[in-house]
Amino acid sequence: MSKGKSVFRCTECGADQPKWGGKCDACGAWNSLIEEAVGRTTGRPDGRNAAASGASPVRLSEMQSTSTSRWKTGLAEFDFVLGGGIVPGSVVLVGGEPGIGKSTLLMQCAARLESQGVSTLYVSGEESPDQLRLRADRLDEDAGGIHVLGETRLESILHHAAQLKSSVVLLDSVQTTYTEELEGAPGNVGQVRECAARLMRFAKESGPAVVLVGHVTKGGGIAGPKTLEHIVDTVLYFEGETTLDHRILRAVKNRFGSVDEIGVFRMTGAGLEPVANPAAAFLAGRSTGASGSAVTALMEGTRPMLVEIQALASKAGFGTPQRVATGLDHRRLALLLAVLERRGGLPFGNLDVFVNVTGGVRLIEPSTDLAILAALVSTVHDRPVPADALFLGEVGLGGEIRPVAGVERRLAEAARQGFRRVFLSARSRGTSSDMEVIGLEGIGELTRRLAA
Ligand code: TYD
Ligand code: MG
Repeated sequence: MSKGKSVFRCTECGADQPKWGGKCDACGAWNSLIEEAVGRTTGRPDGRNAAASGASPVRLSEMQSTSTSRWKTGLAEFDFVLGGGIVPGSVVLVGGEPGIGKSTLLMQCAARLESQGVSTLYVSGEESPDQLRLRADRLDEDAGGIHVLGETRLESILHHAAQLKSSVVLLDSVQTTYTEELEGAPGNVGQVRECAARLMRFAKESGPAVVLVGHVTKGGGIAGPKTLEHIVDTVLYFEGETTLDHRILRAVKNRFGSVDEIGVFRMTGAGLEPVANPAAAFLAGRSTGASGSAVTALMEGTRPMLVEIQALASKAGFGTPQRVATGLDHRRLALLLAVLERRGGLPFGNLDVFVNVTGGVRLIEPSTDLAILAALVSTVHDRPVPADALFLGEVGLGGEIRPVAGVERRLAEAARQGFRRVFLSARSRGTSSDMEVIGLEGIGELTRRLAA
């Protein structure tokens, strides 16, 4: 295939340059030029031969409804996060740090689809077909029907996918794939973007679904910039601590479903296993009866999840006391400690404080404030909080406790998991009758209640 024309486009001002340089001549920005393929124009400017190529308009009412046709993989949590399965003609990007389990997820997904008669092509630029075979053997799946291809050149991948008429093409990874149209090495921004855009076109025009793996750097971006997220239909991030066996799959963009939904898996010796009771997945191993532990309910998309917060305060040695927060922002911890000291009368000045969210979860919602405070109060007094108590509330600088959204759903889930009482803002509405409700105005009441 002949090499297409390409230009170097500035990501800051959009100006085109014929040659690469460290600095954009037009706007003076540094390191902003990336290589882009120049679109080949079919058809004349007057559009006279446009009918020969390209799409023609149709009435919505004359189109067949395709809303019901999704491929369910049968990996329950994966289907849930996608909004019910893979949509034909869509492009899904699965991002995550190396070693988190992206290739394993794709291989399992391919095996499940294949066993339902949906033809799959698994393309790997990272592992040889032999290595893929070894991985497949480890899995508790029937992967025999999957076509595998060790290839990194996009043109050849598209050729094989078209010839095999694969319904789902899985590409591992977008960073190892390159197109001949561009000069740059695989993995550079121009290449990654162009490959994703070409795959998108392929999916829309020919109908197969494409699932792409994208490596995420420690900084968080897929291939540096987030440009890929705009191109594809669905972006899922695979997260978790590689040292723990729980993995969270999170939808951050979804043209065919809701965002912020999460699915929970466990990495086992035979691949990923959807967790049957995700709401309580992070409570497993909780030591009830120990001081410094409190449970709260987070909303992850439409799903409530219960998480345990642990705190430990111990006498500081010489110098400034330590403040260590894992799974929450350390500034949030500093703020809550200050509120507790000033409004609750608990001195932390000579205590080291450690706060930890179990299961590798990150607390983002302020609705978890009350549980953090409860864990802190509990460790300072060395008194456990009731094992069946849930804490829900945002704490203000004045020590006031504010209501949180979605109380009914959080309480319903907590009740299902055996929680029998809830501490929350006295101004909360929609509380449940299944639980004893302890309404609090401010943190003074919390400290009194927990000390009593
Ligand atoms: P992998 O899917 O290769 O991660 P990625 O593609 O995101 O880089 O999986 C990485 C880890 O998972 C690896 O350390 C081995 C482990 N693993 C299991 O624990 N069980 C299994 O069945 C498989 C296939 C892998
Ligand atoms: Mg991999």
